[in-house]
Amino acid sequence: MFVQRVAIRAFRNLEQVEFEPSQGFNLIEGENGQGKTSLLEAVGMLASLKSFRGAKNAEMIQDGHEQARLSCLLMRDGMERDLKIEVNPRSRRILLHNKPVRQLSELYGLLNLVTFVPEDVGIVRGTPGERRLFFDRMIFASQHAYADEMADFEEALRQRNAILRQEQPSRSLARAFESELVRHGATVMLRRIAYADRLAPRLLATFGEIFDRELPLTAAWAGELLEPDERPTRETLEARFAARLDGCWSHDMARGHTTVGPHRDDLRISLAGRDARTYASQGQQRAAVLAFKISEIRLLEEQLGFAPILALDDVSSELDPQRNARLFAFLSHFQGQVFITTTDRSFIRIDTPFRLWRMTRGQLTTESA
Ligand SMILES: Nc1ncnc2c1ncn2[C@@H]1O[C@H](COP(=O)(O)OP(=O)(O)OP(=O)(O)O)[C@@H](O)[C@H]1O
Ligand SMILES: [Mg+2]
Repeated sequence: MFVQRVAIRAFRNLEQVEFEPSQGFNLIEGENGQGKTSLLEAVGMLASLKSFRGAKNAEMIQDGHEQARLSCLLMRDGMERDLKIEVNPRSRRILLHNKPVRQLSELYGLLNLVTFVPEDVGIVRGTPGERRLFFDRMIFASQHAYADEMADFEEALRQRNAILRQEQPSRSLARAFESELVRHGATVMLRRIAYADRLAPRLLATFGEIFDRELPLTAAWAGELLEPDERPTRETLEARFAARLDGCWSHDMARGHTTVGPHRDDLRISLAGRDARTYASQGQQRAAVLAFKISEIRLLEEQLGFAPILALDDVSSELDPQRNARLFAFLSHFQGQVFITTTDRSFIRIDTPFRLWRMTRGQLTTESA
């Protein structure tokens, strides 16, 4: 799978950019503030309809414009797909082959993209909420049903919380919603446990390769409803969740929201058996994030049967020379399309051919490498 052509209009400082990337390695060089991250963000929008910077529509539309437009020609399974997105201040319109897409499920998994950005250090260092977001995104990328499952869970949670915030919360009304909450909550927890189980052995192996075999890096889902290293059945989880919701009722009423459930869980990342957030050095944390990304890419590659597209935003400047060399050792064997940005091409230690692009004040030009 690869992107054949990209066209961008009025997206951040990119007034008008059109380019045909190489099917392999694309290196985008430019000074600070020229539009490199914006370019990757635009490609990311086409893949996930969301900004990896967490930006709102209005922030992405170029100042003084009413709408940003993104489009790409995607080659997948030998077939060309024409995908367009119009970003309006309060809405987004998606067109596949120039026809509006109503069901987002038509799009899930069309463009498989893995991003690696400096903010990803939040996988290790961030708050539990940030970690859930990162981890949930990894699951979305490989299991498309998860998006709807998560939306169902969030809707049930929202309904219970709305009751909790009423002046006289009705226990019986809340119970009617709790059965849904319990069912969807268990689905979310089971997905996360299953994905963490697939990820964990790769994480351990990859961290060993890039850092130190003596320091095992492990990751497992943890939460109030889960015992350590447990693989509960759906029945067990549902029964436990229902009982806890019952037990928490007065407490939740006082708080005005639901205090137990998968929205409170966390991925526990350990280095040599200790909490990586507080125990690992900064460099070890970055190496751990790199191990996460490489593991995610390998998992997705196994599952898809082909390589996803990679977008790496200025990550080399964050890694020490050894870890940077490991990253490029991995990328040199990588079969898929890669977009990588940098302020200085000397960071880019790639020995395979690449196409070099220069970003200057929102204008993209190609140079022969
Ligand atoms: N909505 C917008 N309209 C116009 N310009 C914007 C908008 N949002 C951001 N910008 C500007 O776009 C420019 C490019 O930002 P971008 O983050 O893509 O730069 P970059 O090349 O990645 O820089 P760095 O190397 O510092 O990360 C910045 O100068 C920023 O101020
Ligand atoms: Mg940038």
